[in-house]
Amino acid sequence: MKWLFILFIFFLSCTPKAKEDFMAMPKHFPKPSYSIKINENKFELGKQLFFDPIFSKDSTISCGSCHHQDVAFADSRPFSLGVRNQVGKRNAPALQNLMWSKSFFWDGGVGNIELIPLNPITNHKELDESMVNIVFKLNRAQTYSSQIKTIYQTDTINSYQVLELLTQYQAALISDQSKFDDYLRGNSKLSTEEMQGYSLFQTKCGSCHEGPLQSNYSFRNNGIYKAGDTDLGRYEISIIESDKGKFKVPSLRNIELTAPYMHNSSLTSLEAVLNHYESGIHKTATLDSSLRNGILFQTGDREKIIAFLKTLTDREFLKTNRYRR
Ligand code: HEC
Ligand code: HEC
Repeated sequence: MKWLFILFIFFLSCTPKAKEDFMAMPKHFPKPSYSIKINENKFELGKQLFFDPIFSKDSTISCGSCHHQDVAFADSRPFSLGVRNQVGKRNAPALQNLMWSKSFFWDGGVGNIELIPLNPITNHKELDESMVNIVFKLNRAQTYSSQIKTIYQTDTINSYQVLELLTQYQAALISDQSKFDDYLRGNSKLSTEEMQGYSLFQTKCGSCHEGPLQSNYSFRNNGIYKAGDTDLGRYEISIIESDKGKFKVPSLRNIELTAPYMHNSSLTSLEAVLNHYESGIHKTATLDSSLRNGILFQTGDREKIIAFLKTLTDREFLKTNRYRR
């Protein structure tokens, strides 16, 4: 009897306990817009959901079909393919440090991190499903039942829990291990060229791509939008004339890998992006006043800025098994 008891205690101490709040918050980041504690069990189940095609109408596509870890959960296709190979109208952005973003999607159409999945789920060109049906399919699937029991002490899952689990996974996509992060932490130096690039970047780009996350999350028209475009950006949400052609300022982390660039994938390289800011700006009524004359670069500036942008690549984020299915 005593032996059994000792054995029992032994096994108990071996079972790994799910950690509450197991993601460390980067100390050099600003205060997050959403403060979400990541529970390890919920995160693990959320990860399985993220990669499960059960989320699409014909069980072919998952969140992970359009958001790939090796490119910071962006999509290298200009426009992702949804169910029945349908093509969307905007480039899938990188998913990283979402807790620091106030709103989501290029037009900020979703203002709450937990509601993000409803958008791709119900979009006819993406997953083309309904939450009711997903909950039904998940409850029928069995695969998840023991995990759901452990986490929620119930046999079945509801839509709120599905959203919570996906949020746990998305919110845990924290990229804070780039060379630039090491520099901000005071642990390493940038090269002379990278430092010069950083300083050029701050003066020329920093009014929008601000701070350690390279975004102030405002909506701006950076001259990509042009007369006749059908994608009106922020205007589609606000219906305010002065929002026409404005898009959310994206973070530039891992930018080296997330081509093609801009909401409409119109630029294919970082060189093309700099050419755009210098001489490719489309002049429309809502163009940001700071870009009216373009951004002028001296000889060597472009190379320096690109060298700096490459310090934003976080190899650990791109390859860690933690996020892998
Ligand atoms: C068919 C491809 C596709 C699928 C499937 C898909 N996405 Fe996306 N995702 C996109 C595109 C395209 C955008 C940009 C859309 C826009 O801004 O209008 C996007 C945007 C996002 C964003 C906004 C990021 C930001 O910084 O604003 C999040 C978060 C996101 N997706 C999460 C998910 C989750 C979670 C799922 C699964 C439930 C999912 N996506 C399924 C293509 C897809
Ligand atoms: C007035 C604000 C503003 C300034 C200044 C600005 N940007 Fe941007 N940037 C934006 C906006 C807004 C977008 C998204 C536009 C879109 O998709 O239509 C963007 C997009 C980008 C992208 C593409 C990101 C992606 O994920 O597709 C890169 C790269 C970029 N900017 C680099 C720069 C650099 C380098 C500079 C300075 C030389 C700069 N930006 C100056 C507002 C700005």
